[in-house]
Amino acid sequence: MVAAAGSPVRDWAAMNEPAVEPAGTHAAPAGDVLPGDVVPGGVLPARAVVDLDAVAANTGVLRERAGGAAVMAVVKADGYGHGMVPAALAALAGGATWLGVAHLAEALELRAAGVHAPVLAWLVVPGQDLAPAVAAGVDVSASAVWALEALADAARRSGRTARVHLKVDTGLSRGGATADDWPALVRAAAAAQAEGAVEVVAVWSHLASADDEASDDLTLRQVERLSDAVEVAARCGVRPSLRHLAASSGVLAHPAAHLDLVRPGVAVYGVSPAPQRFSAADVGLVPAMSLRARLALVKEVGAGEGVSYGHSHVTGARTRLALVPLGYGDGLPRHASGRGPVALAGRRYAVAGRVCMDQVVLDLGDDEAARAARAGDEVEVFGSGADGGPTAQDWADAAGTIAYEVVTRIGARVPRVHVGAVAEQHGLAPARRPSPVPAPSRGAGGVR
Ligand SMILES: Cc1ncc(COP(=O)(O)O)c(C=O)c1O
Repeated sequence: MVAAAGSPVRDWAAMNEPAVEPAGTHAAPAGDVLPGDVVPGGVLPARAVVDLDAVAANTGVLRERAGGAAVMAVVKADGYGHGMVPAALAALAGGATWLGVAHLAEALELRAAGVHAPVLAWLVVPGQDLAPAVAAGVDVSASAVWALEALADAARRSGRTARVHLKVDTGLSRGGATADDWPALVRAAAAAQAEGAVEVVAVWSHLASADDEASDDLTLRQVERLSDAVEVAARCGVRPSLRHLAASSGVLAHPAAHLDLVRPGVAVYGVSPAPQRFSAADVGLVPAMSLRARLALVKEVGAGEGVSYGHSHVTGARTRLALVPLGYGDGLPRHASGRGPVALAGRRYAVAGRVCMDQVVLDLGDDEAARAARAGDEVEVFGSGADGGPTAQDWADAAGTIAYEVVTRIGARVPRVHVGAVAEQHGLAPARRPSPVPAPSRGAGGVR
């Protein structure tokens, strides 16, 4: 079984069990085939290999940087594309004690997978039934009196005290009560708490520009505004044990924002939240996701051939074109057309012409390396960046976006393959054993 993105259920033993050994093939040496590359149907065209040990180690780095603050690993949006439940398990193994998600459904999926750590869900809308979340012991954020009342109502119906984090807007102008609306929210919370319907666990907010040195003053102002909000709450009799404000950039660049709990997301996955300020390697983070594919075709064409839709790339001389079975339908940004880097056999090539829905083309040239390329060879679209390979940040730069978007958008069509000791402990890792499918000529060794 190949796991869909985010699916916590995997039977890797079955996945690696050949249905029928193809006639005339041989078992490749174990080292030739990368984990999860081979499934009963044969070799996967593409996969996102997620190193859960890197997720755990990154969480450990963030925990150190957070000083005495506890770490809430943010695993929303399918763990930024890495698989929510596996990412959560790895972050908890690395020292996180909380998990953060946007939607209640995400929190409930964690609970259904047997994850019992405290979870905060911060995005609810009027009319949503909050009772299942309250019953599952999920903490919920409230930015307005209606949300607080909905939570208290859910608590009364489920017979369990609702745990609430009151959110104040300290300058992002996104979620959170304004300073004007804050006293009413706090008073409503005090009343619901007195009745036993809710327990106010935290007062919290979110930073607007912690990645940007030019905005460090704003970050400090936001710390002060949170502290003012905590005082207002205390005057209304609401004295939660936690204050939290910092996401990844705040953890790495603003010790004053650490407070009691930090909420790193992208850095947990080894991606720098502020590449203009520091690279992932600068702060000891390792990108956990490696997006890999097998070439679907290699062919020779002459000079002057237009490549891909619109012919925005034209071959300059006789050359080899290589077809990579990944496109914008898999999450590759189309804006990176003509620029997105792909590594083949230790060399980088820019995508030639447009990124299509399911595929991109590389123009390999006509040198020895190009002549050695074969269908079935493995390419790395992005990965840890070790040995100069491309990273999600490189794709973000090529597309004019942020690496958050690159990793998070890798689609459900790309199987996630979780590797490393944490994956093995949780039965998520594919078995390491020889493949019944012939190894591509030099695929696995070629990328790095
Ligand atoms: C409220 C909140 N906290 C924390 C995070 C994590 O942010 P980052 O990925 O920058 O660490 C997010 C993500 O957008 C968020 O919305």
